[in-house]
Amino acid sequence: MKNENIVFIGFMGSGKSSLARALSQKMDKVYLDSDSLIEMKFQKSISEIFKIFGEEFFRKEEQKLAYLFSMIDNTVIATGGGFIHVPNFKSLGFCIYLRAEFDFLSKHLSLEEKNKRPLFCDEIKAKKLYNKRIKDYEKKADLIIDIENKNIKELLEEIIKRI
Ligand code: S3P
Repeated sequence: MKNENIVFIGFMGSGKSSLARALSQKMDKVYLDSDSLIEMKFQKSISEIFKIFGEEFFRKEEQKLAYLFSMIDNTVIATGGGFIHVPNFKSLGFCIYLRAEFDFLSKHLSLEEKNKRPLFCDEIKAKKLYNKRIKDYEKKADLIIDIENKNIKELLEEIIKRI
């Protein structure tokens, strides 16, 4: 892999931001996070953005970022769980899917972390969304990393070995 972006995908709670940040430090690359960029633009949390403007508005913001990401390289990018649906996703770079079972993700996300995520507040709806998305994550991924019961250091080592 030369200067291609590295794009982290996966369901909510899979640790995309933490791992992407750690990898960017290790590889001396720029780090960008789609959710943080949207929050920064509106000076509001994701949950406020969903509440005030709605999900469709948020998805359009993701598409604008995807256009930007397609024009840069050498960057490690953490995406929100639904970012894979942007139309130009495949042009964004090398894609790493952080995979785990729904029950694992749910157990490891605190109530506070769940409440920050409008699509994880309702556990039953979240599980349905997970089941709908898993095949899409697998299809988009260039590399799948099973994250359960591994710490960030082990995951980082595994990623570096496999990219
Ligand atoms: C979403 C995941 C969230 C955030 C938004 C929608 C989704 O990001 O983008 O709440 O559709 O799965 P994380 O995956 O970082 O929690």
